[in-house]
Amino acid sequence: MQNTIQHKFEKEIIQVQTRDELEAVYQTYFARKSGSFSKLMQGLKDLSKDERKLYGKALNDMKMKMEKAYDSKKAELNKVELSAQIAKEHIDVTQPKLPVKERGHIHPRTQVRWQLEDVMSSMGFIVEDGPELESDYYVFDTLNIPSYHPARDTQDTFYIKNHPDWTMRSHVSNMQVRLMHKYNENGTKPIRAAYPGRTFRNEATDATHEHTFYQFEALMVDRHITIANLVGVIKELLHALYKRNIEVRLRPSYFPFVEPGFELDIKYVDTNKNEKWMEMLGCGLMHPNVLKAAGYDSHKWNGLAFGMGLDRLVLLKYGIEDIRFLMSCDLRFLKQF
Ligand code: DAH
Repeated sequence: MQNTIQHKFEKEIIQVQTRDELEAVYQTYFARKSGSFSKLMQGLKDLSKDERKLYGKALNDMKMKMEKAYDSKKAELNKVELSAQIAKEHIDVTQPKLPVKERGHIHPRTQVRWQLEDVMSSMGFIVEDGPELESDYYVFDTLNIPSYHPARDTQDTFYIKNHPDWTMRSHVSNMQVRLMHKYNENGTKPIRAAYPGRTFRNEATDATHEHTFYQFEALMVDRHITIANLVGVIKELLHALYKRNIEVRLRPSYFPFVEPGFELDIKYVDTNKNEKWMEMLGCGLMHPNVLKAAGYDSHKWNGLAFGMGLDRLVLLKYGIEDIRFLMSCDLRFLKQF
């Protein structure tokens, strides 16, 4: 009969699922007055001395076994509850907030811009952005384009009502003298700078023209800058972008802020395997008037500058046929990069 109690207890214990259930079972056996096992213990006092000794020992053995069963079940339940709690409260701090397939990525234009910036910084150029709403002074005057100069007509842009001297910059060349004023310490220090940014022109849009687009420019001023430096820097940049040696050629061209000025073409092979030249960017040696505007003595200092359409590079790199996609915010387009 006593053994039956132990077995019953052990059987019930095995089946419990929670700590509350376990305690409830325990109490039915071991509650001080009402517990069935406690009652057996209380019965001992009515036995004879010898019987008490015999049964007492047997009951103690049983009690130890039952408590052992109880303890191990309790430990087991604690473990289960703890791991359930950990699983419930666990926060994975490395988990992205959005499901992976919905995560955004860097716009193709920004990818190319970052790549160009990396190469330029590796050659010791600082990289800076500048104001998109700019004074005529930096967009034109400092670049050897006075107000009567016809070159202003080819860069028609947006103006701000009641502010005749402000323009939405038509090129990032506004940064040339701006940066030199900022860093050349009144024409006493050399400078290397690259400046990508957003530019604006009053254009009818089509597959190759946008009214809002991006350019990438760089300049370098020192005491002995040559055309070899100009070509070297540009080739290094193109090499990094296209991951191969690029053959280039210079054609004389006119930009008011360089003298001599060139257009640089790159050689490429078209789909019919014909070698062709493609116009890539404008460049040249800095015009003395620009150096003067920047505070340099143009007899002692000289510089190089080159500028290109960033969007154009992106179109070429990825084989995109229409520039308007870049601004479209169309996810069907953007998700391809
Ligand atoms: N600013 C010129 C444009 O927007 C491009 C350019 C030509 C930049 C020659 C230069 C340069 O730095 O040297 O068409």
